[in-house]
Amino acid sequence: MKRQAVFWMAMAALAGLLLAGTVIAWAQKPAKPQAGAAAVNVPKVKEFRIERSMSKQAVACIECHKQVSPGIFTDWSMSRHAVANITCLDCHEGDKADPGVDATHYKQYELSNNKWGTAEYRVPVVAVVTPKTCSRCHPDEVKQFDRSKHAHTNEIIWKIDLWLKDGMNNAVERASGCYTCHGTTVKIVDGKPDPMTWPNVGVGRINPDGSLGSCSSCHTRHRFSIMDARKPEACGQCHLGPDHPQIEIYTESKHGDIYAAFGNTYNWNAAPGTWTPGVDYRGPTCASCHMSGAGTTLTTHDVTERLSWELQAPLTVRPSEFAAFPAKTNWEVERNKMKEICLQCHSQQWVDGHYQKLDEVVKNYNDIYYKPVKKVMDDLYAKKLLDQTKYFDEKLEFEFYELWHHEGRRARMGAAMMAPDYTWWHGFYECKKRFCAIMEEAQDMLLHNRKAYRYPNFPGAGGDTTPPWVKAPAKK
Ligand code: HEC
Ligand code: HEC
Ligand code: HEC
Ligand code: HEC
Ligand code: HEC
Ligand code: HEC
Ligand code: HEC
Ligand code: HEC
Repeated sequence: MKRQAVFWMAMAALAGLLLAGTVIAWAQKPAKPQAGAAAVNVPKVKEFRIERSMSKQAVACIECHKQVSPGIFTDWSMSRHAVANITCLDCHEGDKADPGVDATHYKQYELSNNKWGTAEYRVPVVAVVTPKTCSRCHPDEVKQFDRSKHAHTNEIIWKIDLWLKDGMNNAVERASGCYTCHGTTVKIVDGKPDPMTWPNVGVGRINPDGSLGSCSSCHTRHRFSIMDARKPEACGQCHLGPDHPQIEIYTESKHGDIYAAFGNTYNWNAAPGTWTPGVDYRGPTCASCHMSGAGTTLTTHDVTERLSWELQAPLTVRPSEFAAFPAKTNWEVERNKMKEICLQCHSQQWVDGHYQKLDEVVKNYNDIYYKPVKKVMDDLYAKKLLDQTKYFDEKLEFEFYELWHHEGRRARMGAAMMAPDYTWWHGFYECKKRFCAIMEEAQDMLLHNRKAYRYPNFPGAGGDTTPPWVKAPAKK
């Protein structure tokens, strides 16, 4: 009797599976070629069944763009947004008076050869979509992101960086370099984004509506996936190179090694806020340590949280002491939040040991390399052997910059994220070499009261030094 029941249950389950299989197969049947559509690509077009209510204007965007830009349509149709009935209109509908409304898009509603190109579907469309739009449905993520250094980086770099503030580089070097990572001020000219400023998905771009940043820096549109953002490559696009080699450091670390070996078994699509260390993945990624929640530490879109040092600064200070953008945090509270993540996979002793070593590395860098060199530089300026009116026009200024900005950071970041090669060979070893070179030159100048050679023509200097917020629309 018992056996028979099990048999019938198994049969029922099998029948259910077969049925589900048919439905799935049905849903994935290639679309029938539509009248007027080019036949070549049609069999690959993904069918999207619109079953729940959606305004006819929203249906028009989808149907027309399925033909015009199938890449965008397909991405959107595979997103969680499509599942939740969030349409193109929810993000791209503009207010009629909005300067960003693209007047030329209205022409799409005057077509005679396209069923969806008629006046009854007409809607004002904006191309630039900002965190302000996302905040209608994701207010917490936007609020957290908004207080981070990511959102404010444009302000920070203009306040403290000599390349910008003192015009040591020029417009094209900025637009194609700095701004692609840091973001730029997006300008609208005649209803269209100015091509010198858009496309740009820099993490701290200043938007025409005054909001800050770009969510697609990590969640590429139109999938807007969390899987994408959980992978280290999402961060590595910007966090690399001689001055902030976090992706290289990660790749060298044991954590990166484990990701390379086991990453294809991680449960990347675990629901938001439920991605569990040790269960869904066995080695952390950048997002695990800096953003995703675990234990008592909550998920955050503020990457300034969980940090106890300002490792990028010339002299390492606490985040609350970083003058250009003092964090409103207490370093001990933040350190404990990060430790809570580590403790999901490690013992207290292991984690405390790691942090003790990091603190020693910070002290070593500050006291042995940075402070003595800074003192000598100040001496040279005071004695007018180095000229103070312009930066980067004398060899020692470059050398000093690279000491803290390049190898000094590599040493500190390498130690923070478990990459011994970055701490020593790319870090302290290079610091030693640079220290000796600077001291040799400085001692010789002091001994002979010799002024430094000044480059007569510093190449490419002289860009516009007006901060963007002076010209940008008022910030919110
Ligand atoms: C009848 C066809 C059609 C309809 C309906 C339509 N579009 Fe478009 N759309 C186009 C074409 C064609 C382009 C230009 C594509 C190009 O430049 O390659 C375009 C461009 C765009 C752009 C790019 C920026 C710009 O302004 O050029 C956005 C954003 C956009 N459409 C969103 C929408 C939204 C949202 C809807 C629904 C409210 C919609 N479209 C309805 C055909 C259509
Ligand atoms: C969840 C919000 C959201 C939805 C839904 C959405 N978009 Fe977008 N779209 C964006 C964002 C963000 C960008 C990037 C804009 C920027 O950087 O300013 C973008 C950019 C675009 C662009 C210009 C980018 C390019 O590569 O040319 C087009 C065209 C576009 N969307 C069309 C559509 C269409 C068509 C749909 C519906 C099938 C749609 N969007 C649905 C948020 C959205
Ligand atoms: C009109 C409301 C609405 C707007 C506007 C909107 N979203 Fe969403 N978004 C949702 C809903 C609802 C879900 C949850 C879908 C689900 O339950 O899976 C979601 C889910 C997400 C997810 C999680 C996806 C995943 O893989 O689980 C991300 C990331 C996201 N949205 C980013 C954005 C960004 C970035 C913008 C702005 C460009 C935006 N959303 C605009 C409603 C919206
Ligand atoms: C590849 C992307 C990328 C480019 C290009 C880039 N940056 Fe950065 N920048 C970053 C990242 C990532 C950080 C964060 C460093 C950290 O915390 O380790 C950063 C930090 C900074 C900081 C804060 C720390 C400091 O140095 O005082 C300033 C200022 C800055 N960058 C200025 C610039 C300027 C000016 C340019 C162009 C001349 C530029 N950056 C080009 C990615 C970039
Ligand atoms: C620096 C990278 C990064 C940026 C920029 C970013 N996100 Fe995320 N986002 C993530 C990561 C990583 C997760 C996954 C967290 C987890 O593991 O659950 C996530 C998750 C989400 C989710 C799912 C719910 C949640 O909170 O976990 C939403 C919604 C979302 N992001 C919206 C946004 C919006 C809106 C913006 C722009 C203000 C944005 N994101 C900018 C990295 C980013
Ligand atoms: C589009 C470029 C870009 C991407 C993508 C990006 N970042 Fe950043 N990140 C920056 C820049 C620029 C800064 C420098 C902010 C400053 O100090 O001005 C920064 C700073 C940081 C900081 C230091 C914050 C502080 O308070 O000192 C952390 C931590 C960080 N990013 C983590 C991440 C993580 C984790 C990801 C991926 C999930 C990521 N970033 C993706 C550009 C980016
Ligand atoms: C095992 C956890 C872990 C992983 C994985 C990890 N980090 Fe970190 N990260 C840390 C710790 C710990 C610090 C130092 C925190 C402090 O200040 O107390 C740090 C510091 C940083 C900083 C320096 C901020 C400053 O002070 O200027 C940046 C930027 C950063 N991480 C980005 C990344 C990126 C990008 C990745 C992936 C390529 C990554 N991290 C991977 C734990 C991690
Ligand atoms: C998802 C689990 C997980 C998380 C979270 C995690 N680790 Fe690890 N970590 C590992 C594993 C697994 C190893 C490999 C240990 C071994 O060598 O067998 C490792 C290795 C290490 C190592 C040894 C590196 C070496 O090269 O010897 C250190 C140090 C370390 N982790 C520190 C940390 C710190 C600090 C944090 C938090 C900021 C952290 N880990 C977060 C799983 C994790």
